[in-house]
Amino acid sequence: MSESARTIEGYKAAAARAAIDLVQPGMRLGLGTGSTAAPFVEEVGARVRDGLNVICVPTSEATRNHAEALGIPLTTLDETPHLDLTVDGADEIDDQLRLIKGGGGALLREKIVATASERMVVIADDRKLSRTLGSHPLPIEVVRFGLKATVQLIQALSAEAGCEGEIRLRPGEGGRPFVTDQGNLIVDCAFPKIAEPEVLAFALTRVPGVVEHGLFLGLCDMAIVAGANGIQVLK
Ligand code: 5RP
Repeated sequence: MSESARTIEGYKAAAARAAIDLVQPGMRLGLGTGSTAAPFVEEVGARVRDGLNVICVPTSEATRNHAEALGIPLTTLDETPHLDLTVDGADEIDDQLRLIKGGGGALLREKIVATASERMVVIADDRKLSRTLGSHPLPIEVVRFGLKATVQLIQALSAEAGCEGEIRLRPGEGGRPFVTDQGNLIVDCAFPKIAEPEVLAFALTRVPGVVEHGLFLGLCDMAIVAGANGIQVLK
């Protein structure tokens, strides 16, 4: 691993350590997905080994496997429909705590879990901070039926200046599409910028083949962001 990659991993771990201070005994937690959420899951696992009593809902099968391996007690939203706190990563965060998520393909479960939570806290390194959303392509989860028509509708949305939509592929698997935990596909949409996320989010909900999109608006209560100058907390 290069020096700069090690530094970034250090920032992710620092944000995860800062977030664990928010966890109280007896809490019902949502566990996020991705390389920043993973060290938080490790922190929860370490506290559980030390006797902390929490119950957790994972936001993906990957996080479920990770949490199970660490002995973290798991539940489902069917058994536990209200959570106290979800801690997750993000691909982009603006100064109003609006997010782009779904780089790991878990946006649908992540949004359901965050919405079921009293508080959502995002942990990130400071590369994720953004003045205007849109530096990261917007992941959009779509059903397979009518894929081409759905992609064309998304690309033609007048809510923003249009986008280039790419169906996400599994890395190194000969062009096979990435399939989400819900059995859907992801279209990564490169917008020049997303000046009005709320307008775009509303327009996307009107495209029938769209299951969910990676704009998380009004969901994040706090961001814990680590960088060269330490930790900053955005609320
Ligand atoms: C997964 C996500 C992740 O939280 C997001 O992609 C950030 O990932 P990482 O912490 O690995 O950069 O939304 O669907």
